[in-house]
Amino acid sequence: MRVLARTPGPDPAVEWIQGDLATGRGITEAVSSTEVIVHAATFSPAARRGTIRPADLVRSPPEVDIGGTRQLLGAAGQAGVAHFLYVSIVGVRHARVPYSRLKAAAEDLVRQSGVPHSIVPSTQFYWLLDRMLGKMARLPAWPLPTKLPMQPADEGDFAAYVAGCVADGPGGDRPPFGGPDIISFGEVAGQYQAARGLRRRILPVPLPGAAARAAGDLTCPEGRRGTTTWAEWLSRHPAPSRMRGAAAPESFRAPSADPGCPHQDHLAAPARSHTRSPRTAKVEWCSWHHHTVSWLCSGGCGGSVQ
Ligand SMILES: NC(=O)c1ccc[n+]([C@@H]2O[C@H](COP(=O)([O-])OP(=O)(O)OC[C@H]3O[C@@H](n4cnc5c(N)ncnc54)[C@H](OP(=O)(O)O)[C@@H]3O)[C@@H](O)[C@H]2O)c1
Repeated sequence: MRVLARTPGPDPAVEWIQGDLATGRGITEAVSSTEVIVHAATFSPAARRGTIRPADLVRSPPEVDIGGTRQLLGAAGQAGVAHFLYVSIVGVRHARVPYSRLKAAAEDLVRQSGVPHSIVPSTQFYWLLDRMLGKMARLPAWPLPTKLPMQPADEGDFAAYVAGCVADGPGGDRPPFGGPDIISFGEVAGQYQAARGLRRRILPVPLPGAAARAAGDLTCPEGRRGTTTWAEWLSRHPAPSRMRGAAAPESFRAPSADPGCPHQDHLAAPARSHTRSPRTAKVEWCSWHHHTVSWLCSGGCGGSVQ
C-alpha cells in the first residue's frame, strides 16, 4: 500500500510518498509499478473551513481537482495502471456551484482518459455536516433551508463500498452511494442539536428552485446505501468536552471515539504527523483515509492497491 500525501503519516504499513497533486511532485514515484490507484484527494476551501463564503460561489481552485487529476491520469496511462478509481460526489453533473463543476470536469477527464477506471460518487459525509453545523453553534438562530432533502453518509460505510469497487475491477460509472435515510436539512440540524446539547432556534428559509438546482441533487434513492444513521454517527463522535454546550464554537469529529476503527493508535495521534492548521481537517481526513486503507486491505485486493 502506497499513499501520496503532502504530509506523510506514521503508519509503518504504508509506503508514504511525500508529494503534491497541485504541482505534480511525487506523482511519478507514487504511480510507478502500481496496479490500482484510488484518487480521493480534493481541495474544497468551503469544506476545509466548514463555512460557505460568497467567493465559493464564484470560483474554486482547480489545481488539485483538475490539474492534479490530469497529471495523475497521465502518469497512470504511462504506467499501464489496471484500475483508476475516482471518488466523486452525487449530483455534481447537474450542480452549478464552482467546486461541483470541478468535480464533474474531473469525472470527464477520467472517462476520456482511456485508463481503465471506476467513478464512485457519494452523498455528503457526516463529518462535513458535523463541521458545518458545529461552525453555526455560536449563532443564536440557524436560518436553514429546512425542507431540502439530504441523504448523508458515513465515510466508513462509503470506504467499504470503495473497497468493494476496487475488488470488482474497472466498472466505469458505479452506482452512487448514500446514507440509509433520506431526511430533510431541518431534521439533520435538529438531530445534531439534540446530540450536541444545543438549543438554537431553527429558522426555515425557503430555497428557490434556482438555488436548489445550483446545489444539485443531494440524494440517490436508487443507489447503494450505508447502514450508519446520522444519529448513530453523532453518538459515536461526541463533541470534545471543551466544545460541549452552548458556548461550543465548533465541533469536529473525534477519531479516537470510533469504536469500530481498527486504526485507533494512528487516529489517537494525528497531531504529531498533521501539525499544520486547520488541525481538524487533518484529523478528519486522516480518519476517513484510514478507514479506506483498512477496508481496501480487507477488500480482497491483497496489497495491490497503491
Ligand atoms: N466531504 C464530503 O462530504 C464528500 C462527499 C462525497 C465525496 N467526497 C469526495 O471524497 C474525497 C475525499 O474528500 P473529503 O471530503 O473526505 O476530503 P478532505 O478530508 O478534505 O481530504 C482531501 C484530501 O486531499 C488531500 N489533498 C488536498 N490537496 C492536496 C494536494 N495538493 N496534494 C495532495 N493531496 C492533497 C488532503 O491532504 P492534506 O491533508 O495534505 O490537505 C486530504 O488528505 C474527495 O474526492 C471528495 O470530493 C467528499
